[in-house]
Amino acid sequence: MPALIEYFLISFLLFFFFIPHLSATTCGESTCTSTSPQIRFPFWLKDLQPSTCGYEGFGLTCNPRHRWQSILFTVPSSSRHFAIQEIDYLNQNVWITDPNNCFPRRFMDNDFSFDSSPFSYVHALERFTFLNCSYQAEVSYPPISCLSNEHYMVTGVPSEWINSSKAWSSCSVISEALVPFSAPYEWDYLNGLELEWYVPNCRFCEAVPGKVCGFDNNTSSKLRCSNAILIQLTVILSNIARGL
Ligand SMILES: *[C@@H]1O[C@H](CO)[C@@H](O)[C@H](O)[C@H]1NC(C)=O
Ligand SMILES: *[C@@H]1O[C@H](CO)[C@@H](O)[C@H](O)[C@H]1NC(C)=O
Ligand SMILES: *[C@@H]1O[C@H](CO)[C@@H](O)[C@H](O)[C@H]1NC(C)=O
Ligand SMILES: *[C@@H]1O[C@H](CO)[C@@H](O)[C@H](O)[C@H]1NC(C)=O
Repeated sequence: MPALIEYFLISFLLFFFFIPHLSATTCGESTCTSTSPQIRFPFWLKDLQPSTCGYEGFGLTCNPRHRWQSILFTVPSSSRHFAIQEIDYLNQNVWITDPNNCFPRRFMDNDFSFDSSPFSYVHALERFTFLNCSYQAEVSYPPISCLSNEHYMVTGVPSEWINSSKAWSSCSVISEALVPFSAPYEWDYLNGLELEWYVPNCRFCEAVPGKVCGFDNNTSSKLRCSNAILIQLTVILSNIARGL
């Protein structure tokens, strides 16, 4: 069973060479902690890999203080930080969360924009009104728990739901913002945000088992679909050559 032996040998090598402080300076799959998503093209780790390993706008950093939010993405134009929770390389989606565990506040404060980044919203946006309600308010929408307490409830609802009825009279408006809100993911914005990217388009490559996408070489912007095992072996061998 040579294939099986090869598999175990490679797994063994990967285990020893892909713990964070030993991460490769050569391009290849990398990660920040054992529980965080794998990072590979078009993403790259800014502190550990040359920029030629990834695409512009996809640079990530490790956040060693957080176990569950160990990968940070910074929107280049605004220096706003997000934690990367999940990367779907085939569908080119990424699920981001707030490093301070209060994503709705960031919508409420109109804190960020992805306009100048490679990412866009997956779900349609809706105009939301954020409200601060006393508990007499008869509104039964999910409270934003990180902003509410036993005395008052902060919530966000589609602006068009608000009318002159008495139910809303014990709420005061905090702000308005655009929020992704579409069935069946209506209240997902309370936890995070799903983004997608179109460029670079590596779906053609990610759809092939065992293949990974990357630049043709370190001076080219042409995409190339290579054998994943060969790439990782190259990384391992170059790490050995560097005396790790
Ligand atoms: C909501 O109202 C309470 C009491 O009026 C106030 O203390 C609190 O800061 C408000 N919260 C927000 C997020 O505006
Ligand atoms: C206000 O909207 C609620 C639903 O959000 C609805 O049940 C109620 O009938 C509306 N009241 C008025 C006065 O339009
Ligand atoms: C590209 O790779 C070659 C060989 O590995 C290296 O000598 C060269 O410095 C690299 N160029 C850039 C721009 O990183
Ligand atoms: C890099 O790739 C380009 C094509 O994308 C090719 O023309 C060039 O010769 C390559 N350079 C090296 C050093 O392999």
